[in-house]
Amino acid sequence: MMLQKREVEGSGFRYPIELHEDLSGLREKLESLKKVSRFFIITNREIAGIYEKYLIQEIQSLSVPYTIIYAKPGEKNKHIDRLKKVFHEMVKSDADRKAVIVAFGGGVIGDFAGFVAASYQRGIRFVQVPTTLLACVDSSVGGKVAVNLDLGKNMIGAFHQPEFVFAPMFTLSTLPEKEWSCGLAEIVKHAFLDGGEFLNRLTHVKRSDFSAGSEVLRYCIDESVRIKSNVVGQDEKEGGLRAILNLGHTTGHAIESLTQYKKYSHGEAVSIGLITALLLSRKILGFSDSNLSKAVQIMKSLSLPVRLKEKPADVLTHMEHDKKKEGKTLNFVLLEDFGKPKFGVPVERDLILEVLKFQKGWEELG
Ligand code: NAD
Ligand code: GLY
Repeated sequence: MMLQKREVEGSGFRYPIELHEDLSGLREKLESLKKVSRFFIITNREIAGIYEKYLIQEIQSLSVPYTIIYAKPGEKNKHIDRLKKVFHEMVKSDADRKAVIVAFGGGVIGDFAGFVAASYQRGIRFVQVPTTLLACVDSSVGGKVAVNLDLGKNMIGAFHQPEFVFAPMFTLSTLPEKEWSCGLAEIVKHAFLDGGEFLNRLTHVKRSDFSAGSEVLRYCIDESVRIKSNVVGQDEKEGGLRAILNLGHTTGHAIESLTQYKKYSHGEAVSIGLITALLLSRKILGFSDSNLSKAVQIMKSLSLPVRLKEKPADVLTHMEHDKKKEGKTLNFVLLEDFGKPKFGVPVERDLILEVLKFQKGWEELG
């Protein structure tokens, strides 16, 4: 059963993002695509181990043939080296330009399968079926698809919009706890960018309110999709505005690379980075103390980490390393107020250091 629906519309694209209770209805959605020669479902064995039987039950009577391709799970397999095997499987199955890719998984599968679709025979259609919270609220929407190089994440990619997004909420019931943090951090980010009622609602929720099927979860997915769709609709290729979606990510990425992607999940690192961004916002744009306290309270009640534990100087070094290609200045997305983001704000390294030191020692963070 479909629970809610949004549309993203930009120049030259328009597609629905639907939240469904489970997989029923996916067959009809796939059948609604015109002139499909074959579906290639890209997933991994972890996800297939739990959900393949439900998927096959739903699509076994498709009038178009399908092939399931198993990628290896994990970020390290969202790698350029993994593409050849998938392309070969497709060629061997006679995939032509009317083939359609179905990305069945989290953000890793979505980005990887989306890139396969963007590049196979110069681009074929694809569909997103997100199975993690992060994928439901962020990565399945907006058409950024990519693979990693040894020398950097998401270095090889494209903007390639899906035909539709079909999120089956029941899959979230098996999501590991740390994967919830990844999605919740992006939800909080969207609420900070939006201000408004969404943010107020978050001040009244706690982590235990979020479970597959809960009303709070549905609401937060819907609001996140609304906010992201609105931004992507205005600026698909990140010429400007779309950069606001990187709120919290400058520090987040630096913490992740400093700790070699082992200590924190992406969402945990982004959470800490959101607080850095708000502390900088207070210094530079007059973001208020009461807003800062509100943000900390929301994040704590969602059990998201807020305190910096790493050495500030090391974090700064990693920020500078990440940004080398853009020149010396470190630019941040900051907030004047909730709902009033500014992107490309240059920040002096001494001020970054001062704020990181404060975030490491600040008592309010508990
Ligand atoms: P992920 O795809 O690695 O999934 C996390 C883990 O959960 C994996 O081991 C996966 O196999 C498993 N899993 C997936 N669904 C499950 C389920 N329903 N039940 C149990 N286990 C399940 O992680 P993610 O957080 O979804 O995605 C992270 C990726 O998304 C990163 O590569 C990041 O770069 C990308 N991303 C892309 C965008 C974008 O706009 N394209 C935005 C944000 C993040
Ligand atoms: N997750 C950032 C973006 O989609 O632009």
